[in-house]
Amino acid sequence: MHEPRHILRAQQFSRAQMEGFFADADQLRADLENPHKREEFSDYLIDRVLFNIFYEPSTRTRMSFSAAAEYLGMRVVSTENAAEFSSHTKGETLEDTIRVFNEYQPAAIVLRHFDTGSARRAADVSDVPIINAGDGKGEHPTQALLDVYTIQRELGQIDGLNIVIGGDLAHGRTARSLAQILARFKQVHIIFVAPKQLRIDGEVTDYLTDHGVTYAETEDLAAALAEADVVYWTRIQKERFTDPKLFDKVRNRYVLNAETIAPLKADAIIMHPLPRTVEIATDLDDDPRAAYFRQTGNGLFMRMALLDWVCRP
Ligand code: NCD
Repeated sequence: MHEPRHILRAQQFSRAQMEGFFADADQLRADLENPHKREEFSDYLIDRVLFNIFYEPSTRTRMSFSAAAEYLGMRVVSTENAAEFSSHTKGETLEDTIRVFNEYQPAAIVLRHFDTGSARRAADVSDVPIINAGDGKGEHPTQALLDVYTIQRELGQIDGLNIVIGGDLAHGRTARSLAQILARFKQVHIIFVAPKQLRIDGEVTDYLTDHGVTYAETEDLAAALAEADVVYWTRIQKERFTDPKLFDKVRNRYVLNAETIAPLKADAIIMHPLPRTVEIATDLDDDPRAAYFRQTGNGLFMRMALLDWVCRP
């Protein structure tokens, strides 16, 4: 038996592996539309069981992992509110819970948890692959993979692009994971836009510097948008604020709408991991540059490709 193929951090994948996932996701997209091909989906997944364990709310990640597994012939056992409905409330540690789940022989465990580093802790006690579906303010690697897959599909390349990442960079794990995964590509330039209280942390910028990625930090939205090939916008994460006054101060600071995106190039794209609140006005949804719903759709195929990789014997 090989070591379990955990997915814990965006940075764990090489560029070649990511390009393999892009090709697999494209193929799975085509296969899903072809009823004859669907029968050929990998035998080793048929009737294997995927565990979805979510201690924090989720819409896209949980549903797309469930759907991805079902399309591949797997079965899904799921808890959508483990923080309330599992033995967590009785004081059971995450480690014990994961050891118990190992006894039930799932093919993989998809874990979303409010503690940063929880996916690593789970992997340390698990012989079954752990897929990090978001660990607190830490990482969200499967989101980062679907994000780079989206850029590749929309713009045909990732190398050489100017990528604006903005919003709540202090609490947003998708922004952290995306910034770090972009280091695998050539001559990407990142422009971070955030209120000064919500800047990206030094661990991420040090990683970029160590990997030769150039970046800038600014509070000037218009100037950043004028440079952008990709705008990756994120929600102000109300639930992670300890000071409600600070949240009130920053919540409407950066709103993308028809007026504020005026400097954006005609061939740029606007992405968002979703859910959005006020930070992208719905009047942008019909703009062809708004890629966020296509992006979420790409998540299904990327997660199918990832389950295939994780569960392969
Ligand atoms: C994000 C998350 O949970 O980190 N959602 C997602 O998985 N697409 C973003 C967020 O909560 O703002």
